[in-house]
Amino acid sequence: MTNIAFIGGGNMATCIIGGMLANGFSAHQISVSDPGEQARAAIQNTYGIIATADNHAAVAQADIVVLAVKPQVMAAVAENLARSLPRHAAVVSIAAGIQLSDLQRWLGPQQGIVRAMPNTPAMVREGATGLFANRYISSEQRRAVETIFNAVGISCWVDSEALIDAVTAVSGSGPAYFFLAMEVMQRVGEELGLSPHTAQALTIQTALGAAKMASAGSLDTAQLRRQVTSPGGTTQAAIEMFQAVGFEDTFRKAMNAAVDRAQSMAEEFSRKP
Ligand SMILES: NC(=O)c1ccc[n+]([C@@H]2O[C@H](COP(=O)([O-])OP(=O)(O)OC[C@H]3O[C@@H](n4cnc5c(N)ncnc54)[C@H](OP(=O)(O)O)[C@@H]3O)[C@@H](O)[C@H]2O)c1
Repeated sequence: MTNIAFIGGGNMATCIIGGMLANGFSAHQISVSDPGEQARAAIQNTYGIIATADNHAAVAQADIVVLAVKPQVMAAVAENLARSLPRHAAVVSIAAGIQLSDLQRWLGPQQGIVRAMPNTPAMVREGATGLFANRYISSEQRRAVETIFNAVGISCWVDSEALIDAVTAVSGSGPAYFFLAMEVMQRVGEELGLSPHTAQALTIQTALGAAKMASAGSLDTAQLRRQVTSPGGTTQAAIEMFQAVGFEDTFRKAMNAAVDRAQSMAEEFSRKP
């Protein structure tokens, strides 16, 4: 039985724990540490997991340690934890913009570490997580880490750490792109005379329907788009307007801005020795 410790019991940790418990993990396998008394009580009441304020106690029996604290406190947390980490444990960092080289420096040169980039739809078990492991992680540990993130959606391994920034731009920040599009669709629907309720209901159902059609997988998204775009029809008029105002270029710039920010965060949070 794999024991998993979460350092930090905030939003991300609790939604992953919820998914794990719904997918066959037992509360006895999971330990959590968090400085907040309220956060600890919520974890205990909701999940039946006894949470501690002591990071060292939380990791004592752990096979996998998930670092789920904010990037700003990661250096202090990791450096402090290094002395009590079980030698065989795999450490998984879900912090945006914290690089393996820094984690390695804080935790120890031969520590097995995975960088994971989950996203907020994990809260409804529809998350998408990118994973990259250093060379000290065994294939058995990879499978164990996958199981954690697959409990709240899907996970994909990437071939280089730099690709975690690409994952951040696609799926980490991606939910907000869709929310923004939905916000605008709702607003314009209202401007066109729909009630707020109707504009919202139609927008949400349309997003859900489009995502389900795309995930059914029989056609790729370009084919699906062409299928609903009859020549000379209303959808074609809308799509041609998107293209005329540089939709693809705007999207590309936005996603590259997310990558640039991930890289500057890495520099910001890397505490030099
Ligand atoms: N939310 C997302 O969409 C998302 C997506 C991908 C990755 N991430 C990453 O996930 C990580 C956690 O994000 P979150 O949204 O879950 O943040 P969060 O809700 O603030 O959770 C972090 C928790 O860690 C606790 N903490 C602070 N110092 C600690 C310490 N020394 N030891 C143990 N716990 C400590 C915090 O307690 P206090 O509040 O009392 O300080 C808080 O309860 C971040 O690194 C973020 O980059 C988040």
